[in-house]
Amino acid sequence: MLFSALAFLALARLALTANLEYLKLNGPSSLPADASHHIHPSLASFSIETAFVITFLGNVSQPNELTSKLLRHLHERSSVELRIGGITADSTYWNQSLPVAIDNFIDDKGVLHNTTIGPEFFNSIRTLWPEADVTMNLDLHDLSYEGALEVANGTVVGLGDQLVALEIGNEPDHYSPLWSAEKYAGIWSEWSKNISDALGFTTPMWQVAATAEDPLWPYQNPDGLSSALDCVSAMAAGANAANTVKLCSEHTYQYSVCDPARAAVAILPNLVNHTRLAMYMDLWIPRIRTMREQLGEHGFLIGEYSSVSCSGHDGVSNTFGQALWLLDTSLYAASLNVSRLYSHQGGPLALQSSTQLNHGGLSFYDMWWPVDNTNGQTRVFPSYHTYLFLGETLSKSNSLRISNIYPGRQSNGSTITVEGGDTSQGQLIAYGIWDDKLGSHYPSKLALLNVEIYNQTANYTRPSTTFDISQFLPRQGKVTVKKLQAPGADVMFGNLTTWAGQTFGFTGDPVGKLVKETVRNGQVVLRASEAALVEVVH
Ligand SMILES: *[C@@H]1O[C@H](CO)[C@@H](O)[C@H](O)[C@H]1NC(C)=O
Ligand SMILES: *[C@@H]1O[C@H](CO)[C@@H](O)[C@H](O)[C@H]1NC(C)=O
Ligand SMILES: *[C@@H]1O[C@H](CO)[C@@H](O)[C@H](O)[C@H]1NC(C)=O
Ligand SMILES: *[C@@H]1O[C@H](CO)[C@@H](O)[C@H](O)[C@H]1NC(C)=O
Ligand SMILES: *[C@@H]1O[C@H](CO)[C@@H](O)[C@H](O)[C@H]1NC(C)=O
Ligand SMILES: *[C@@H]1O[C@H](CO)[C@@H](O)[C@H](O)[C@H]1NC(C)=O
Ligand SMILES: *[C@@H]1O[C@H](CO)[C@@H](O)[C@H](O)[C@H]1NC(C)=O
Ligand SMILES: *[C@@H]1O[C@H](CO)[C@@H](O)[C@H](O)[C@H]1NC(C)=O
Ligand SMILES: *[C@@H]1O[C@H](CO)[C@@H](O)[C@H](O)[C@H]1NC(C)=O
Ligand SMILES: *[C@@H]1O[C@H](CO)[C@@H](O)[C@H](O)[C@H]1NC(C)=O
Ligand SMILES: *[C@@H]1O[C@H](CO)[C@@H](O)[C@H](O)[C@H]1NC(C)=O
Repeated sequence: MLFSALAFLALARLALTANLEYLKLNGPSSLPADASHHIHPSLASFSIETAFVITFLGNVSQPNELTSKLLRHLHERSSVELRIGGITADSTYWNQSLPVAIDNFIDDKGVLHNTTIGPEFFNSIRTLWPEADVTMNLDLHDLSYEGALEVANGTVVGLGDQLVALEIGNEPDHYSPLWSAEKYAGIWSEWSKNISDALGFTTPMWQVAATAEDPLWPYQNPDGLSSALDCVSAMAAGANAANTVKLCSEHTYQYSVCDPARAAVAILPNLVNHTRLAMYMDLWIPRIRTMREQLGEHGFLIGEYSSVSCSGHDGVSNTFGQALWLLDTSLYAASLNVSRLYSHQGGPLALQSSTQLNHGGLSFYDMWWPVDNTNGQTRVFPSYHTYLFLGETLSKSNSLRISNIYPGRQSNGSTITVEGGDTSQGQLIAYGIWDDKLGSHYPSKLALLNVEIYNQTANYTRPSTTFDISQFLPRQGKVTVKKLQAPGADVMFGNLTTWAGQTFGFTGDPVGKLVKETVRNGQVVLRASEAALVEVVH
């Protein structure tokens, strides 16, 4: 009885996943017509909640060693930028004589009311993270021009040429009562002009919008495009009247635990699904196009994002599944010409929502916890290893272009969905990366993902898929393969996650032998819940 039940289960699984065992990627191998602009070497960057910047970095006399090591490994591979901001930016004030780097006003109930920073705040950033280009978010919500000017001045004096852009307000489309695009644009353009004059900026230094709401569907509808406050409507309403706009930024959180209804769908099988994440990102295609026309090809950024808003979901956004989601989201967004994505790090804010799941400590979507906190001890999460993968993909280059070669794009520009012919149900994804310096006949790299969920708790044999990439390789067909791996998508420990055979999850130093496979027949095998960076040997 037991035997036959087992045999039946095994057969059922086979039938379900038969089409996952082999995937042939169809050429041509040359640069596709839908390839992206030159990918920005800082595609994979960070946003850190203002109130938590010093928690992550430490200060000059007591630097955070874990953060320092983890950032060093990333900068060895590519460049990484920092956006300082988030909800707490709208209650951050300047005090020129503050003796400490940061002073968070937290009441007896643990509620963070406001944040005061002084010169030591920027001294810490300049000393501990000198490689980062920095974007600073000023307070708009209090409508205190003087307060915003003081923080801007402190930033300029403190960071010098590390400062590359400033934002005014965080998620102003969520202010209550709601702001129209006209109200926002009027105040924003005046402040950006006056602060530019006061501080002697000679070029546009401002990043507009930093808005939270997703585009309305269908997005081709002109009302859908313009009714909400976002980059496009702010520009149309005159935000750039004084020619101060340099860049535009919008925020993306596909899932949320801000309320129980949304928390119920913020689950691993929804997160680790290419169809779902690509359909979500596709909503921004018109805005990306419009803003690139107005601000240049690197004009559109996702200045703050993660998988699950209100600080992540334990068991979802701290897993290896999140690591795969982060990889797929970063590469897919790059294929749509998003210039840079700033993964948000911080902690739950007590007053963000009265119905939220998380309270106190650090967020469940953080790539690491730099200090012990009420949610757990200092540690590195699986998703940090994704940034090593991305760093080696980007490799400080300015000559790379990317295209999603599987499941690819429909003729109208949208991703190929399950209904549109993705036979893998959103589980197999392939990107090609072409390097102008090496020519356009073959990709120089491929990123392959098998996001079929395999949990470490599973009691069946881990399935695998052979990606046949032979049509994308020059005749000699030799490639090297580095893998992003863990015992399962549900793994929550960075110390069980490896990039090219090494884990950075114990102390932030690589542990284990570097593993780089050589494949000569164009057949790259990936187990369920695994990804690989393939480099073509030229
Ligand atoms: C991305 O930019 C490239 C180069 O400018 C362009 O050819 C391509 O159509 C753009 N992609 C999208 C989705 O707009
Ligand atoms: C600034 O900080 C100093 C030192 O802590 C304090 O004495 C002073 O009152 C603060 N200034 C304001 C305006 O809060
Ligand atoms: C640096 O951090 C240590 C430990 O948190 C703290 O005691 C010290 O006051 C801080 N110094 C400054 C300048 O912020
Ligand atoms: C911060 O919040 C506390 C408590 O509400 C308040 O007393 C204090 O004045 C605020 N600080 C600033 C600089 O606004
Ligand atoms: C900027 O701050 C410096 C102190 O570091 C001060 O001397 C200067 O007057 C400030 N400038 C403005 C425009 O506030
Ligand atoms: C900005 O500058 C203009 C011209 O000097 C002035 O009329 C206006 O009041 C200033 N706005 C703010 C918010 O300070
Ligand atoms: C791996 O990390 C987790 C979380 O920090 C920890 O509980 C566990 O002990 C670590 N495993 C080892 C072998 O150190
Ligand atoms: C492209 O077509 C698919 C249906 O084939 C549709 O679901 C999607 O919304 C379309 N995208 C755009 C940008 O029109
Ligand atoms: C991924 O999401 C799409 C769209 O919701 C769905 O059709 C597909 O079945 C999902 N894949 C899996 C493996 O659940
Ligand atoms: C496999 O594990 C699941 C739960 O994880 C359990 O429900 C099922 O009975 C197990 N099957 C066998 C054959 O052990
Ligand atoms: C894997 O585990 C997650 C919870 O961590 C669960 O939501 C999901 O359904 C499991 N998937 C499979 C295929 O077992």
